Amino acid sequence: MTPPAIVEFRDVSYRYKDAGQNRQAKVDREQTAASVSALDGITLDVKPGEFVAVIGHNGSGKSTLAKHINALFTPSQGTVLTAGLDTSDPDLVFTIRSHAGMVFQNPDAQMVTSIVADDVAFGPENLAIPHEQIISRVDSALDSVKMAEFADRNPAHLSGGQKQRVCIAGVLAMQPDILILDEPGAMLDSRGRRGIRRVVRELNDGGMTVVLITHFMEEAMSADRVFVMSAGRIALQGTPKQVFSQKQRLRELKMEVPFSILLAEALQQRGIAVPNMVKPSELKEELCRLRLSE
Ligand SMILES: Nc1ncnc2c1ncn2[C@@H]1O[C@H](COP(=O)(O)OP(=O)(O)OP(=O)(O)O)[C@@H](O)[C@H]1O
Ligand SMILES: [Mg+2]
Repeated sequence: MTPPAIVEFRDVSYRYKDAGQNRQAKVDREQTAASVSALDGITLDVKPGEFVAVIGHNGSGKSTLAKHINALFTPSQGTVLTAGLDTSDPDLVFTIRSHAGMVFQNPDAQMVTSIVADDVAFGPENLAIPHEQIISRVDSALDSVKMAEFADRNPAHLSGGQKQRVCIAGVLAMQPDILILDEPGAMLDSRGRRGIRRVVRELNDGGMTVVLITHFMEEAMSADRVFVMSAGRIALQGTPKQVFSQKQRLRELKMEVPFSILLAEALQQRGIAVPNMVKPSELKEELCRLRLSE
C-alpha cells in the first residue's frame, strides 16, 4: 500500500494582486480583475521521504508553488494539504510551518544574529522550547550540515555555501518533516553548491522529504521525481530519466538539455552503443565498461 502524500495540491491556482497604481487605476476603469496568474490548476503529491525537484523557466511559478507548501501563501482556488493539514486554515499555520521548513536563495537575508549557534537557535527559541532541548537541537542541526566546528563563529565571516548550510541548520532545528529549498545554490560557486547537494542528499537518505527548486540540471538529476513548470502549470513530470530524455519537449519549455544526455546522443550518432544516460556518473561507468569489453 502506498503511504498517504505528505504534500498534496488539488487543482491549485494562485493570483498575485497587482499592486501597480497606474495599472490598478486602468483596471478599475476597465472593470476587470487586476491580478497576475502564477499557478494555474496544479495537482501534485509528494510522498513521505521523497526527493522532488522543481524546475522551469523564470517566472514559471516555482517559488509561488514552494510558498504554498508551508502556508506562506494560500491558494486563490483549490486546496493544499501539508502533512494532512489544510494550509488555508489560519489556526494551523504554525503547525504547518513546524512540519515544513523553507530555505531561500540568499543566505544573508536569512541570517539574524552574529553567532552561528544563535542563528540556528533563533527558530526554536521563538517556539519557547526549553533551553536544554534548544542546545541539543542546535548541536545536532549543525552536525547534520557539517558546520559544528563553526558554532561560535560570526556568520559574516563564512563563505556563501557555509552560510547557506547554517540556514539549513536553522530550519532543521525546528525538526521539520519536509525541507523546501528555493534555489539554495543560486548565489554560490560550484564548490558551495556541491556542499549543499551533499547535505541535502544525506538528509533525504535519513528520511527527510525534500522539495528542491533549482536551475541546475545536475541537481534535479539526483531527485526521485522532477516537475517541470511552465506558465503556472506542471508541463512535464516523471523520474529524471523520463523527463530529461524528452529533449524536444524540454527545448519547447525553454529548458536546457543536460550535457550527459547530449553527449550520449553524440556518441550514439558515432556508433558507440551507450544508452540514454541521465547522470554523468552513469555515463562514465558505461563508457569504462565498453572500453574494458573491447
Ligand atoms: N509579488 C508579485 N506580484 C505580482 N506578480 C508576481 C509577484 N511575484 C511573482 N509574480 C509573478 O508570478 C509569476 C510566477 O512567479 P514566481 O516567482 O513564482 O516564478 P519562478 O518560477 O520562481 O521564477 P524565478 O525562476 O525567476 O525565480 C511570474 O509571472 C511573476 O512575474
Ligand atoms: Mg523563484
